[in-house]
Amino acid sequence: MAKDPVRVLVTGAAGQIGYALVPMIARGVMLGPDQPVILHMLDIPPAAEALNGVKMELIDAAFPLLKGVVATTDVSEACAGVNVAVMVGGFPRKEGMERKDVMSKNVSIYRSQASALEKHAAPNCKVLVVANPANTNALILKEFAPSIPECNITCLTRLDHNRALGQISERLDVQVCDVKNVIIWGNHSSTQYPDVTHSTVTTKDGEKAVPGLVNDDEWMKGGFIKTVQQRGAAIIKARKLSSALSAASSACDHIRDWVIGTPEGIWVSMGVYSDGSYNVPPGLIYSFPVTCKDGKWSIVQGLSIDEFSRKKMDATAIELADEKALAYSCLN
Ligand code: NAD
Ligand code: LMR
Repeated sequence: MAKDPVRVLVTGAAGQIGYALVPMIARGVMLGPDQPVILHMLDIPPAAEALNGVKMELIDAAFPLLKGVVATTDVSEACAGVNVAVMVGGFPRKEGMERKDVMSKNVSIYRSQASALEKHAAPNCKVLVVANPANTNALILKEFAPSIPECNITCLTRLDHNRALGQISERLDVQVCDVKNVIIWGNHSSTQYPDVTHSTVTTKDGEKAVPGLVNDDEWMKGGFIKTVQQRGAAIIKARKLSSALSAASSACDHIRDWVIGTPEGIWVSMGVYSDGSYNVPPGLIYSFPVTCKDGKWSIVQGLSIDEFSRKKMDATAIELADEKALAYSCLN
């Protein structure tokens, strides 16, 4: 029997991530090849005509799984009954801008959209915040939508996770699908800590630890971390636009694993509300290694943390606490 359609909201749908993301959702990349979807696309009035153009293209592409398209500039209409909300709308960072520069513009959007989601979305709606500052926008959304369970509000660090997998695969000249269990700790920013301490590569001789295979501490603690931390800025420099296809694809990975589950023995990175695990202060949206089952994520417990990792994990937590304070000062 055919499944009932799932309603998926994409805010900022006329923007460049939106343009890459909506066809992926309509093709089943996010929710699976047998899951019909109804797309709800929100943008602001100056982008209404472009948004309608995206709707026209979605119709023209004749996606078999796509059972309806709502394209609107009305936030209440956009949020009505949605089961999944991918929050991309906002102002992107331009060349030379720090992420803090986009803070004041974006946190006020997230406060008002929190209320709309709370009022109009389906009760168990899963929320993924992509727009920067992603962790802090998600935190503001959580705080201003108190009736949405906090475990349903997450932010995207899967792009950083995938970037780390990509760097290890290039360095070791192995297939990216054979690399697993990297971790992104903390903020989706240049203080994030990409950690390969626990990651492995599947080889013909079994699972091998990445640190032993790389065998270059200086690179793992230096060049590797910096490349992943700075990859967003490097893309902006190269394209004069921020990452879009990789962000859209990683957003699909995030929701797919959350809804369908992570494969046995594999963890992924998600920005989630800290419960104090690994001594990360509660009250922040912080990226942790998680596994997902039955639509719920859980933080992977019991990983050993050395002194180098501890310092990096604390530094990114401090930045998040500063961002939180700054966000509140922008809202007041
Ligand atoms: P873009 O400017 O191309 O698109 C943003 C869209 O949001 C625009 O169409 C704009 O009109 C719309 N918008 C603005 N205010 C809105 C509002 N109040 N409600 C609904 N829509 C609104 O930007 P983009 O390149 O698509 O990037 C979107 C966001 O994602 C940026 O904040 C960017 O920094 C962020 N980003 C995050 C990651 C990540 O990994 N977390 C990766 C890449 C980009
Ligand atoms: C990215 O990681 O590509 C985006 O968050 C863009 C940015 O501002 O770094």
